[in-house]
Order: sequence, then structure tokens, then C-alpha cells
Amino acid sequence: MAESIVVGTDGSPTATAAVEWAADDAARRGRPLRIVHVMDRWPYNISASPPPDWHGFMTRAGEQVLAEAAKAVKERRPDVSVTTQLIEGMPSQVLREQAGTAAELVIGSRGLGGFAGALLGSAVLHVAGHAPGAVVVVRATPDKPYGEIVVGIDGSAECGPALGFAFEQAQLRGCALRALYAWQVPVHAFAPEATHEIDKVRQAHRRIAAEQLAPWEEKFPGVNVVRDVTCAHPVSALVDASVRADLLVVGSHGRGTVESIILGSVSRAVLHHAHCPVAVVR
Ligand SMILES: Nc1ncnc2c1ncn2[C@@H]1O[C@H](COP(=O)(O)OP(=O)(O)OP(=O)(O)O)[C@@H](O)[C@H]1O
Ligand SMILES: [Mg+2]
Repeated sequence: MAESIVVGTDGSPTATAAVEWAADDAARRGRPLRIVHVMDRWPYNISASPPPDWHGFMTRAGEQVLAEAAKAVKERRPDVSVTTQLIEGMPSQVLREQAGTAAELVIGSRGLGGFAGALLGSAVLHVAGHAPGAVVVVRATPDKPYGEIVVGIDGSAECGPALGFAFEQAQLRGCALRALYAWQVPVHAFAPEATHEIDKVRQAHRRIAAEQLAPWEEKFPGVNVVRDVTCAHPVSALVDASVRADLLVVGSHGRGTVESIILGSVSRAVLHHAHCPVAVVR
């Protein structure tokens, strides 16, 4: 049987948007969908007098969250096969484990907790970039599709999985793929005499982008690729492009990251500020 797409829900409005996104993607990819709710017992571990039958209460509440999510999926995508799973543990840890056996993990950018102005819930940074494969972080689903997916590339081999994911999504949706490669002029604070022939630098970056895209364009000849090679900071370029995108795809880290850092600074910033769902692909 095909690997399932897994979506985590705590019943919050953002998690509900994630469930809808996951249902649509399961239909697109012809995969089953597994909806997971994690029962977090931690608050009751520290309580001096836990309410009687807290376990039964939490189980019933979790089952209700799952039943409502499954009902929403059946109404939205009757063709998708759905299962639900109630797991006891720490949400971020359980979701990370779930990603290991899933075709893709989908979560909301935030949930029931957090403070009012929070852009990202704590589960997101624990899971995105740490879990193998693709983690899709959903904010709100756009009302109608823009017809474009954006993938961020930096010329490094780390972009391979993100490119594979983005080309497949563009092909399945029949939409355009904007391959965004943002480069910056190196600044030498202590050697201001080091200058650059800007046209040559620009041409070199265009060549790197073209070389990185060539094998994928050959593999997916039906995908209309827009090569967007621009002199800008990658975070601002990607966030700007996300305003008119159905999905933004990035690798978990790029050329700049030391190996021990799991989520690169661009991926992290994009998760905070993007206007559309973001897929982080490791
Ligand atoms: N108990 C849970 N079971 C399943 N999925 C969950 C659970 N908690 C969170 N998630 C998933 O993770 C997403 C982000 O929620 P998260 O808990 O990180 O944010 P938050 O509740 O706003 O903040 P925090 O819990 O860090 O105070 C949710 O939209 C949901 O998809
Ligand atoms: Mg939470």
C-alpha cells in the first residue's frame, strides 16, 4: 500500500486548514490520509491533584477532534481513504516520529496554544527540518489558486529533494514553477578595494541556476519553469514571491549552513514570514 500522508491536528482553526490542505494533496497524489491527534499528558504530570478520570476526558476530547477532522475530509474529498490515530506523548516528538513513516507530514503554522502574536507554534521548528522527507506548514489556504509554485534554490546539492518535490507538485497541479535563485554581492568590510564586474557575476549566477535546473526540466518536460535569478536577499525575495504563490518549497538547509544546524536561516525565516503554505524538504 502507498505510504500515507500524515496530518497533525489539535482541533485549532489553523490545524483545520492543514487538514484541508492534506486532504487535497492526498487526492492529488492518490495516497491515503492519516489524521493524528497527540494527547499531551504533561500538564497533568505536574498537577498536584489531577482531575479524576483526566485520561478518559482527554481520550474523549481527542477522539472528538479526530472524528470532526475525518468528517471534514470525507465531505471535502470523498475519494480519499482516511484513517485516524490517537497517540499519547509530546506533540512535537510524536509528529517528528510520524514523519519518519509518512510520504509527507502536514501541520498548521500554529495551534491552540502560544501567545496571541506568535507567528509559529513550537511544534513547527521542532519538526520542520528535523523530520525526514517533506514537512508542509499551512497558514491559511488561498481562496482560489494563483497557478504558481515557488521553489528556492541556491546552487547547492541540498536543493535536490526540494526541487524533486516542487516539480512533482507543479506537474500534478498543472501549474507554473518559479525557480527563484537570489544572489548577493559579497561585501568585504576590510577590503573595500575588492570590486566585482557585476555583469560577469550576474552571468555566473544565471549559469549556476540553469545548470541546477537542467536535469529536472528534462525529467519533467511538461512543467513550465520561470527562471527567476535576482540580486536580493533570499528571504525577502522568497517572502515577496509567496504573496502570489500556492506553495513555497525550500530545502531544510543550504550552502551556508554548518552541518550541525538542522534548519537553515533562510528556511527558518521563510517559515515565519511566508504568505502561503511552505514545504520544507530534507
Ligand atoms: N496535540 C497535537 N496533536 C496533533 N497535532 C498537533 C498537536 N499540537 C499541535 N499540532 C500540530 O502542530 C501545529 C502547530 O501547533 P503548535 O502546538 O506548534 O502551536 P501553538 O499551539 O500555537 O503553540 P504552542 O503549543 O507551542 O504553545 C498545529 O496546527 C497542528 O497541526
Ligand atoms: Mg500547541
